[in-house]
Amino acid sequence: MFDLNKCGFATKQIHAGKHENAAGALTAPIYQSSTFEFCSVEQGGRRFAGQENGFIYSRLSNPTVNVAEEKVAALEGGEAALGTAAGMGAISAALWSSVVAGDEILASDTLYGCTFSLMNHGMSKFGVSAKFLDLANLETLKAALSPKTKVVYLETPCNPTLKIVDIAEVARIAHEYNPEIKVIVDNTFATPYLQQPLRLGADVVVHSATKYINGHGDVIAGFVVGKADFINTVRTFGLKDMTGAVMSPFDAFLIARGLKTLDIRMERHCANAMKIARFLHDHPAVEKVYYPGLEDFEGYEIAKKQMKLPGGMMAIELKADRDTAAAALNKLQLCTIAVSLGDAETLVEHAATMTHSTYTREELAASGISEGLVRISVGLEDPEDIIADFEQAFTHLAK
Ligand SMILES: Cc1ncc(COP(=O)(O)O)c(C=O)c1O
Repeated sequence: MFDLNKCGFATKQIHAGKHENAAGALTAPIYQSSTFEFCSVEQGGRRFAGQENGFIYSRLSNPTVNVAEEKVAALEGGEAALGTAAGMGAISAALWSSVVAGDEILASDTLYGCTFSLMNHGMSKFGVSAKFLDLANLETLKAALSPKTKVVYLETPCNPTLKIVDIAEVARIAHEYNPEIKVIVDNTFATPYLQQPLRLGADVVVHSATKYINGHGDVIAGFVVGKADFINTVRTFGLKDMTGAVMSPFDAFLIARGLKTLDIRMERHCANAMKIARFLHDHPAVEKVYYPGLEDFEGYEIAKKQMKLPGGMMAIELKADRDTAAAALNKLQLCTIAVSLGDAETLVEHAATMTHSTYTREELAASGISEGLVRISVGLEDPEDIIADFEQAFTHLAK
């Protein structure tokens, strides 16, 4: 038998999640069915009791969704994965399955705005506290760990400042303190092609599959990846009972399709981003470039250690007041002003008023997110064309 576990990344992204179907279709069909037939009352009972494998109802599992789940589990090196209706569905189902009232989450101080809001304004209402720390400073983590800590949660590179956290060190410190602590890593920016947190010692990976995993800007989805037992708990409690944020079969079909080219897309995103980062770094109108591939970026060495390539995301600050900077960005013609990321198109957004508007001014400052921070998701266009677009938009700023 051909052992897919021993195959390379490209082979896994194409062949994992092989699905048998009556017609022998090469591409797994879209099982657009909410429920599944039992051959008897007894069989239905056995399936509900977990005594027999098989499908029951698509809020629990669905054959098309399983295909996407198996691909993501194989690529992340996890025992199992769970598809959800959004990245926020994955994050909330994973967190609700990991904590109870009285527990504490230690989280990175820079996170996607809605993740921050879920912990800061949402879970806190139910007796779960969250402390936001600079996890790039490992001494801060050591000092904050307590018997109440049940989860250490981070993004790396983080949204939107690209801050890098040493996954292996955070996992080592957290597990030395208490092996039961769940280290959860949002791997949306890196994707498993660039970074595999579970292999570095993390317990759980979450994704906004809306981004690079799907890669084509036409789906909102998420994944949780980890040990089979934990994924089963998230499936039967966090997803089934707490959030109901189920991935649709059609979205799973698109994701399985998008995943077949993840490695090629990421290589191109990274190559383009490196060229654009160097161009912006040397541009007289640009104050600062945040990109893990630049030697003068704070997290450069750790990024090099734990990532295959520095990724397709970056942020910049312009040497201009807010209105002048906005006017320059409005001149972009090829690049699109939009949130989201990881699409074929280059997307540009203003973090403080868009993706991170859930932070107050003080919280933005505490997280190192400057008022002028512009986040760029570098697309798959010809890099010369992206550069030419920034060049024409920024010319009057440089004078
Ligand atoms: C790093 C990160 N995690 C999670 C999310 C939430 O994902 P979704 O929009 O798919 O719910 C986002 C969305 O932008 C994100 O950037």
